[in-house]
Amino acid sequence: MKRFVIANWKMQVTAAEAETLARAVVEKWAAQGAQSPDTAAVLCAPFTAIERVGAAVRGTPVALGAQDCFWEDKGAYTGEVSPAELKSFGVEYCIVGHSERRGLVGETDEMVRKKVTALLRHGIRPVVCVGETREEREGGRRDAVVIGQVKSALEGNRPVGTQFIVIAYEPRWVIGTGQAVSPEDAASMHHLIIQTLHEIYPADVVERQFAVIYGGSVDSSNMRGFLGEEVIRGALVGGASLKPQEFVSLCEIAADMTR
Ligand code: 13P
Repeated sequence: MKRFVIANWKMQVTAAEAETLARAVVEKWAAQGAQSPDTAAVLCAPFTAIERVGAAVRGTPVALGAQDCFWEDKGAYTGEVSPAELKSFGVEYCIVGHSERRGLVGETDEMVRKKVTALLRHGIRPVVCVGETREEREGGRRDAVVIGQVKSALEGNRPVGTQFIVIAYEPRWVIGTGQAVSPEDAASMHHLIIQTLHEIYPADVVERQFAVIYGGSVDSSNMRGFLGEEVIRGALVGGASLKPQEFVSLCEIAADMTR
């Protein structure tokens, strides 16, 4: 069962810093990564660093990811970046609907859905972020919010062939706090998401074309706990992914637990 360790560098690095970071990850992970085909190590770089990080990881077991995209291929869309353009740089994964974008720039469920459609069309794997705010959780709306986000992102989108969708459950209120939810708590939300997928797709599609991963204050001290829950297929990592040794430790834990 494949595991995913996905770095989200957010807006924390310059292009030069991103390249240095990518080269350090490659240097530390290349040998083991080559022997660990069931562990996908992915670096989601800022747009400005996509080309340099792409060059650094090309031909290695580390994959290139982006943090967002637009849903059209080309046109008068000032400031946007198309999946076609990302693909041309070797991007294999793209985060959509991250809580920071939902919260800070008003990314809606509908925008997320259109981005998923566009990414699938270009053979890029969407990493669809879902998760509730603290108020939603405390108000008893956690499950409804997450189910709604999943259903909305997938409406009209059915992955076929080699198309693949990663869903990242990130409770918004633990991101960047150093206080992750418990593995049991995360696992129960993963089960809910998988149950929701089963309402939409036949079982073989859910099994072959999807993975659900956890994000929110993951580091090498808690990674084993999360991956110990079979339903949790990996992690989307913010702060800890900015330290190459720490990120590679997460990949090593995933590889170790996948064996
Ligand atoms: P942290 O790992 O810093 O909590 O960030 C999680 C996240 O937002 C990844 O997308």
